[in-house]
Parts: sequence; structure tokens; C-alpha cells
Amino acid sequence: MEKRKILVTGSNGQLGSDIRELATQYPGFDFLFTDRETLSITDEAAINTFFNEKQPDFCINCAAYTAVDKAEDAAEFDKVKALNADAVGYLAKACATHHTKLIQVSTDYVFDGTGTEPYKETDTTQPVSVYGNTKLRGEELAAEHTNAVIVRTAWVYSTFGKNFVKTMMRLMAEKPQISVVSDQYGTPTYAADLAAAIMHIISSGKWEPGIYHYTNEGRINWHEFALAIRDIMQSQCEVKAIPTIQYPTPAKRPAWSVLDKTKIKETYQLEIPDWRTSLEVCMGKMQ
Ligand SMILES: NC(=O)c1ccc[n+]([C@@H]2O[C@H](COP(=O)([O-])OP(=O)(O)OC[C@H]3O[C@@H](n4cnc5c(N)ncnc54)[C@H](OP(=O)(O)O)[C@@H]3O)[C@@H](O)[C@H]2O)c1
Repeated sequence: MEKRKILVTGSNGQLGSDIRELATQYPGFDFLFTDRETLSITDEAAINTFFNEKQPDFCINCAAYTAVDKAEDAAEFDKVKALNADAVGYLAKACATHHTKLIQVSTDYVFDGTGTEPYKETDTTQPVSVYGNTKLRGEELAAEHTNAVIVRTAWVYSTFGKNFVKTMMRLMAEKPQISVVSDQYGTPTYAADLAAAIMHIISSGKWEPGIYHYTNEGRINWHEFALAIRDIMQSQCEVKAIPTIQYPTPAKRPAWSVLDKTKIKETYQLEIPDWRTSLEVCMGKMQ
């Protein structure tokens, strides 16, 4: 039997790289890893040519404009919208034409962060940043054109790419004291766990289109996240808690972005690791 093909876009990023690592555990699939050079998803003609030639069975869209603060620069708007919104529309249309199942990855930044309970998939979206707005438009386009599975995630880190964990590890090794905000709550996501969850969905043989929330288990603030990183690396660095107001950034962040994962756990019988356990696994690979 011919192997089913999985197109992975943006595969040099954090999530894409972790899917690449996991691919060896899925010999029943042919993975088509692409990046900005080999398949720019903002190029509709290139997408159509690729789909015509390769006829993928699944497409995991890991490509995105993720520089949340830079995205607030008016000069960047066209680029952000092209990648996070328009390109998702091109992919979704190609998926519909070729009967390809699309997994679109989205974000907790579709919420405004004024909630007090973990956000459900049905809760009202109200992005407060350009990144969040364009990612929400991407979700809408994905759902409009095809029966997509949309996975919202948050606070992603990995052994690959740039992320909070790596930044903290570097700063804690360099400085005697750092300050980290303690009034924004959420849950970290180890990209390898998210990659495993996505592959679990694909290999389950069950396709239930719609929006799903996925992070690791638990609820913390960024200061608590930094303290855990310090403990694991056994650093002596002092980690001060500060309010967001003392750390202004161009993009407004949701103060509360804890996601309710009941739907993905029940639909796909997924077990999700605790954030601290996964942090230890990831840092264990980096040290
Ligand atoms: N990182 C987070 O904390 C976070 C939180 C919530 C949701 N998410 C979502 O999770 C998904 C994966 O995020 P991530 O952290 O893995 O992102 P990432 O590390 O920034 O990777 C994104 C990848 O997209 C590539 N790319 C840029 N323009 C492209 C184009 N035109 N065509 C194809 N690829 C292109 C980038 O390549 P270059 O490096 O060459 O630009 C990069 O390799 C995204 O949908 C993101 O919105 C992330």
C-alpha cells in the first residue's frame, strides 16, 4: 500500500523541527518537509504546483510570522497578514481541491486575556495584537475553505529555535539578577509534545474538524516558569517578580491565556504531560 504523505510547511521552525525529529517513529508515512525556500506558503502558485505534483494526504502548517512585537510595526503589517492569514487561505483552498486534511496551528493570542477560567474553544475571541488578529483570520480562512483541524497552542518552547527557555538559560548564566513578569498566566507547551499530539491525531484515523486547544498541563505565570528553569539548571541567579507595567512591550499580551484542553483529550484520547515534567525533558536535552 502506498504510504500516506504529510506535507509539513515552515519545517525549520520550533514545531516543524520537532515533527521532523518524531518522523522516524512514523515509518508508515512519507513526510514532505518544506521551508520558506522550498515552499513559500505566501506564493499561491507555488502551493498549487506543489499540491498538483505531490498530492499530500495531510498538511501541517507550521509556518507563521511569530515575532509578536515586530508584528506591531506598521511597516510589517502586509508581511504578517500575508503569512498568518492570506497564505492559510491558499493552503486551505489547495487542501479542499486535493482532499488533503489540513492541520492549522493557532494561538492563545486570539483571546484578550480578561478571562478567569481556562478558555474553551467556543469562548469569544478578541485579539489585542496584530499577531493575534492575523492568526484569527488564518483560523477563519482555514475553516471557510476546508474541514480543517485547528490547534491553538501557547508559550511554545523547544530545543530548536529561539524561545523563552533558551533566553532564560542564557540570561541566568550571564547575570546575577533578572526580572520577569508575574501577572500574566498561561501554560507552556513543549513543541515535541505538540508534535506528538498532532501525529496522534493524524495516525488515529479519526478526523473531527474544528478548533482544539493544546498546551501542557498546569497553570503558571512567566516568573514561575523562570524559577523552574533556574531550579533545573541549578543557577544562583536572583529572579525578581515584576508587573507587566514595568516591562512594556510593543504588543499587548493577554494577562490570562490558560487554555481548556478537555475537547482534544476526550476526542482523541490524549494524555498530556505536565508542564514541569516536559520542561525537565527539554532542558535535559539541552544541558
Ligand atoms: N512560539 C510560540 O510561543 C507560539 C505560541 C502560540 C502559537 N504558536 C503557533 O505555533 C506555530 C508554530 O510556531 P513555532 O514557534 O514553531 O514558529 P517558528 O519557530 O517561528 O517557525 C515558523 C517557521 O515559519 C517559517 N516561514 C516564514 N515565512 C515562511 C513562508 N513564507 N513560507 C514557509 N515558511 C515560512 C519560518 O522560517 P524563517 O525562520 O526562515 O522565517 C520558521 O521556520 C505557529 O503557527 C505559531 O503561530 C507559537
